[in-house]
Amino acid sequence: MAKILVLYHSQEYGHTKLMADAVAAGAKAAGADVTAVNTNDARLDVETYRQMDAAVFGSPDYYSYIAGGLKMFLDDWYIAKNIDGTGLADKHYGLFYSHGGGGKVGAVMQKLFGMLGKQVGQAVESNGKPTEQVLEACKALGRDVARAAARF
Ligand SMILES: Cc1cc2nc3c(=O)[nH]c(=O)nc-3n(C[C@H](O)[C@H](O)[C@H](O)COP(=O)(O)O)c2cc1C
Repeated sequence: MAKILVLYHSQEYGHTKLMADAVAAGAKAAGADVTAVNTNDARLDVETYRQMDAAVFGSPDYYSYIAGGLKMFLDDWYIAKNIDGTGLADKHYGLFYSHGGGGKVGAVMQKLFGMLGKQVGQAVESNGKPTEQVLEACKALGRDVARAAARF
């Protein structure tokens, strides 16, 4: 069974959490074992990431950038991969984000998370509260990441 991490930040209205829940539901429906963490609740131990087969990352747009908790994860990831000698394998990953009408965080996520491995599909975007169509796209993303992980 593929192990999938859904790591996201949601704090203001819960928009990104709705998307994360749909991603997790899609991955579970494809047979994955899902670990979901909101960085507003906890800092992810990079050892948890190491044990995952693939991951899906979601952020609200904060000042045209990712939320601080996700930046902290990327800092931890970089140090584990490059500095502390333990290394970290590349992984398949997916992306989603929510915003209030700007949405420049999308390009930032493409660039930053590109370090982690190979992206699955397109990033799913929501302007404000996610619509049913957006949530369906999130479910499909979770499914596709789970399938990509199961092939490796
Ligand atoms: C501190 C802060 C900064 C924000 N900056 C932006 C921004 O630069 N561009 C934008 O489109 N939305 C911005 N927003 C709006 C959020 O991205 C948007 O409301 C998002 O859906 C909130 O997700 P959440 O409910 O999961 O926390 C900002 C919100 C907050 C709280």
